[in-house]
Amino acid sequence: MNYKIVVLPGDGIGPEVMREGTQVLMQAAKLYGFGVELEEGIVGGASIDAHRKPLTDSVLKLAKDSDGVLLGAMGGPKWDGLDYSIRPERALLALRQELGLFANLRPVKLFSALASASTLKREVVEGTDLLVVRELTGGIYFGQPKGVTKLPDGTERGVNTEVYTTPEIERVARVAFEAARKRRGKVTSVDKANVLEATELWRKVVTRVHKEGGYEGVQLDHMLVDNCAMQLIRDPKQFDVMVTTNMFGDILSDEAAMLTGSIGMLPSASLGGKVGMYEPVHGSAPDITGQDKANPLATILTVSMMLRHSFNQIAAAEWIERAVEAVLNSGYRTLDIQEKDCLPVGCKEMGRLVREKIEAMKG
Ligand SMILES: NC(=O)c1ccc[n+]([C@@H]2O[C@H](COP(=O)([O-])OP(=O)(O)OC[C@H]3O[C@@H](n4cnc5c(N)ncnc54)[C@H](O)[C@@H]3O)[C@@H](O)[C@H]2O)c1
Repeated sequence: MNYKIVVLPGDGIGPEVMREGTQVLMQAAKLYGFGVELEEGIVGGASIDAHRKPLTDSVLKLAKDSDGVLLGAMGGPKWDGLDYSIRPERALLALRQELGLFANLRPVKLFSALASASTLKREVVEGTDLLVVRELTGGIYFGQPKGVTKLPDGTERGVNTEVYTTPEIERVARVAFEAARKRRGKVTSVDKANVLEATELWRKVVTRVHKEGGYEGVQLDHMLVDNCAMQLIRDPKQFDVMVTTNMFGDILSDEAAMLTGSIGMLPSASLGGKVGMYEPVHGSAPDITGQDKANPLATILTVSMMLRHSFNQIAAAEWIERAVEAVLNSGYRTLDIQEKDCLPVGCKEMGRLVREKIEAMKG
């Protein structure tokens, strides 16, 4: 197997963390006997500086013709004053749209060594390992009608519309069931079916896909979103895969992310079309750029997600995750996850330690 991967490091700490991520990828390829061909492109602020637009046609074509896209981070104070239509982050939205990425996957796994970084009690969060699948291109963020209108009495009326069609729900439900098959085999579908008709349809369609799609090996439960928000902080270990609408997923994935206590540890994937796009959850962190302080583990775990979800290289993905865990268990920490009595390391050293562990564990 030979995978063509487009690497878009972006701005700020993007290039620093991506360097460590791609080195882990090349190492995994060598050790597990698959080929990778990396092609690098510029996006976001770097592309605005070079081409006056955040995403060029040639980079978009590269991405479309690839087997997977690895993205760093985009944006920074230098470009904050630009018009919204040409801001660096537009590249992200354009890539999602052009690649047809309708499902956002955010795993939330608490490494036991980092349990004290969470704001919740160790006994509540320890062992948390869940995946939020958020519908990404439909729902209330895109539904029509929307907007603010003036009323005859001088007041205003703001409207947004929650809209979902059967195919939109079917395809994201399938992503969740497929993901659950590769995990612990449980899906919790989150809605507000007791109040919102659009999510009554959501529940009906998810139930049908489960029944008719050959997913009898996967357990399906339904949960109302308000209860889910509570359950996430009461007992997060009850969840394996959670699938939900665009807005509920936006909120719940951030709530779930905070269970781990650190943004520098969180990977994500956007799936749907032929090509998946993988990126760390964090931004470009201008406050620490160029100082070798960034935590590369989110990007390294992003590489592992790509191997798992796009290429089905499960063994390689698991080794990377185990190596990350082993390095944390040995007490090494970047600044964002630093704890008393732990060993402080920079971005490059953290990357090197993970590679060293992978090599040692494989050998
Ligand atoms: N997907 C993306 O490309 C993306 C996502 C979020 C924000 N942004 C952009 O990034 C810029 C900065 O945004 P922000 O400051 O709100 O969010 P941020 O995620 O860049 O940083 C928030 C805080 O977390 C720290 N942090 C983030 N990633 C880290 C890492 N890997 N290791 C150690 N510490 C880390 C930063 O130092 C900062 O203190 C903005 O221009 C924003 O628009 C881009």
